[in-house]
Formats: sequence, C-alpha cells, structure tokens
Amino acid sequence: MAIPYRKPRIKDVAFRRLLSVVLITLSGVLLLVMVLRTNSVSDLSFTYSDDTDASFGATRRSTKVVGENLKLLKQNELSISLEKRNQMPPRNLDLYPTLAKDHIVIVLYVHNRPQYLLAVVNSLSRVTGISETLLIISHDGYFEEMNKIVDGIKFCRVKQIFAPFSPHVFPDSFPGISPMDCRDKQNSIKDKCKGNPDQYGNHRSPKIVSLKHHWWWMMNTVWDGLKETTLHSGHILFMEEDHFIYPNAYRNLQLLTKLKPEKCPSCYAANLAPSDVKSRGEGWDSLIAERMGNVGYSFNRTVWRMIHRKAREFCSFDDYNWDITMWVEVYPSFGGPVYTLRGPRTSAVHFGKCGLHQGQDEKSSCIDNGAVNIALEDIDRVPNVQSSWGVHLYKNQDGYKAGFRGWGGWGDTRDHQLCLEFAKMYGIWDAGKK
Ligand SMILES: *[C@@H]1O[C@H](CO)[C@@H](O)[C@H](O)[C@H]1NC(C)=O
Repeated sequence: MAIPYRKPRIKDVAFRRLLSVVLITLSGVLLLVMVLRTNSVSDLSFTYSDDTDASFGATRRSTKVVGENLKLLKQNELSISLEKRNQMPPRNLDLYPTLAKDHIVIVLYVHNRPQYLLAVVNSLSRVTGISETLLIISHDGYFEEMNKIVDGIKFCRVKQIFAPFSPHVFPDSFPGISPMDCRDKQNSIKDKCKGNPDQYGNHRSPKIVSLKHHWWWMMNTVWDGLKETTLHSGHILFMEEDHFIYPNAYRNLQLLTKLKPEKCPSCYAANLAPSDVKSRGEGWDSLIAERMGNVGYSFNRTVWRMIHRKAREFCSFDDYNWDITMWVEVYPSFGGPVYTLRGPRTSAVHFGKCGLHQGQDEKSSCIDNGAVNIALEDIDRVPNVQSSWGVHLYKNQDGYKAGFRGWGGWGDTRDHQLCLEFAKMYGIWDAGKK
C-alpha cells in the first residue's frame, strides 16, 4: 500500500510535518473560534461538563507506579502526575454500571488536534452499541483542549490515559529535546553532542519519534498494564484521532470477530477499513481477507502476545513509523502471511484537513468546522456483513514488506532502549520465545 506522504526522507518529512503542524494549529484555532462563535457545539450529541480535573493527581493508590522501574528516565512532575492519573477509574461508571459480556474495547490514540478529535468523538457518539463498551483514549502529551472534549463524552464509559514518557512531556530532556543532543546531520564527536544518527545520517527528532513511542507504550499499557483491560479476553479495536467511524462499525466488528475463526482461520485480525486507505471497499456480496491495514484494526490477546515477543525487532528497526515497522519487521516474523478479515464496505475512514492535504487527493474526505464531509448511505447505518457470505482472499498485495530498509528517524539507541523498557515495564518479558 502506498502512503504517499510518508515517501519523502525524514528531513522533508520533518519540515513538512512542522509546516503542517503550524498550519493545522493556526487553522484549528480559527476553526475552534468559529465553532464556538456559531454555537454549533450544541449540535453535538455530547456536552461539555465543567467539572474539570479536580481530582487530578489526588488519587493515591497502592498500585505500583511503573515509572520507578524505567532505568532510562528521570521523571519530572508532570510525568509522575500523568502516571498517577492513569490509575484513576473510568468516567461515566454511574451512567454505564455494566459492560456487555461480549464487548470489544475501543482504544483511540490521539495527540493534539482538537478539531479532529471532536469529529471522531462525534462519529463515535452515533455508533450503535457504543454504550455497551469501554472507550480508552490514549494521549500523547497533555493538552487542555483535548481533555475538554473527552470530558464531554457521555455516550459510554471512558478511560483516559496519558503517555507519561512522551517527548511532549519532557520539554528539556530526553525523550524530549535536550540541549546536548545532536541535530540533523551533526557529528557527535566533532560537534560534541549526544545521539546516534539513523541509517541516513540524521539524528532523532523528538516530535517524530513520539508517534512510535506512543503507539508502543499504548499497546503495552492497554494489554498488560490497566486493571480495566488486563483480563479482557476479546478483541480490542484501535483508532486514531483522524479516523471517522460509521454508525454500523461496532456491530459489524462484532460479526467479523465472531465469523473469523470459521471463515478465515488464517486471519489474525478484523478490520473496519480496507488496507488501501483510499478505498471504500468493493461492495461485493463477500467478506474480504487481505493484508493488515492501519485503519480500524482489531485483534485479541493471543495476537498481542505474538507482537510483544517481537519487541526487540519492533524497537530496533530504523523506521519512525509504527505501522511500517509492523509490516516490515514484525508480521513477516510470524512465519506466514498475516491476513485480516473485513466487510466489503468500509466502516471507518481516514480523513484529512480540507485544503491541507498530506498526499491526499481532492476527492478524499476532509474536515471542516469539526464536521467531516463523509456521505453516509443508509447501508452504512446498519450492520452490512452477512454470515452466509464466502471470503475473497487477496494474495500478494503490494505494500511494505520484509526487506525494506526503513525510512530512518529511529537510529538513536536511547529510543531503542526506552521502547524496550515499555515492553518490560509490566513485568512480562518473553521476547525470543515462540
Ligand atoms: C485470537 O485470535 C487468533 C487469530 O485469529 C486465534 O487464532 C485465537 O484462537 C484467538 N484467541 C482467542 C483466545 O480467542
């Protein structure tokens, strides 16, 4: 699968990302001002609540604080308080005292794009069955604007977690920017700076490595670190802050995960969207098995254990993209093709910012005023996966695979170590075992 905006080398990416971060932030602020002015927030099916974080940092539980075990890092106050906050119980327990027996936990991992999150949360609020499950929102960094949106969620149980070792939480030391670190193509000996360059000679960029760190921390924490989910035996669905989800997504996913053992025993996962992010599906009367995608993917603990055993491979592969790392290093090591099962029509789409495309074409979905211009047909509002269907299997699809050397950006041994620490921090270490 081609992901056009990932193609350029790391320096271009860094610059473009910075540029788009600036532009998106600017337009985000403008949009938010407009949204608030025109009061369209009241259209949303969830409301803001005023009780902000009165209990922030106030809960002292006897639970082990994992950060003490991380050899690498001296934690600052913010990092410690975030770690404590992660132990707080979910919100809305009063509204949703029980979860459905066969629920699929949903994890949404986000950074700092409030207008995107607003759109995603809005789409989640319309999902049939959402009230039966737990929504976990994993934050890369601490941002009030993002918290406000999460505070407003009333349509299901919500648990918020914050990556306590995010580069965004360390403004002047590793894994954030530290004054002694080498930049760009500096030479650590000649320039007396710290760091190892990647395979292309570039030094780490905290902003860029934060995504892979967050994904890996989040995976380890959700499967092995939270008391809300460590006993969860079913699937967990993963989404990003720019993934719009259709009203039928949850019911479709329940069907797919039930059908998977019988219809596609060689499938490791169930997906809401095609692995080609531009496709909306084939519309056939058939299930589809294909290579793992990175939009709306779900799998169970058995698969997580397989991934976790490849921690060394994941953490040392010189590519700053978690998904390319999985395709090139982790899945190929499973010893056979890694297929996922999905329906013939998508139930989730990756949207971009209108006018600010990162390799997306004009026709693809984009966001404006906290709303996404995705046309939903009636068939997208009800479950549209049939248990009587057969499976169409795509073999040998294009895309990143074993042998690709990586886009770089992940050459610093401190990043490799931190990443490995995340895999060990909950006391499970089975790397190398079959
Ligand atoms: C989890 O999924 C895998 C791959 O689909 C399957 O082989 C395994 O049996 C499932 N595990 C459980 C506990 O359901």
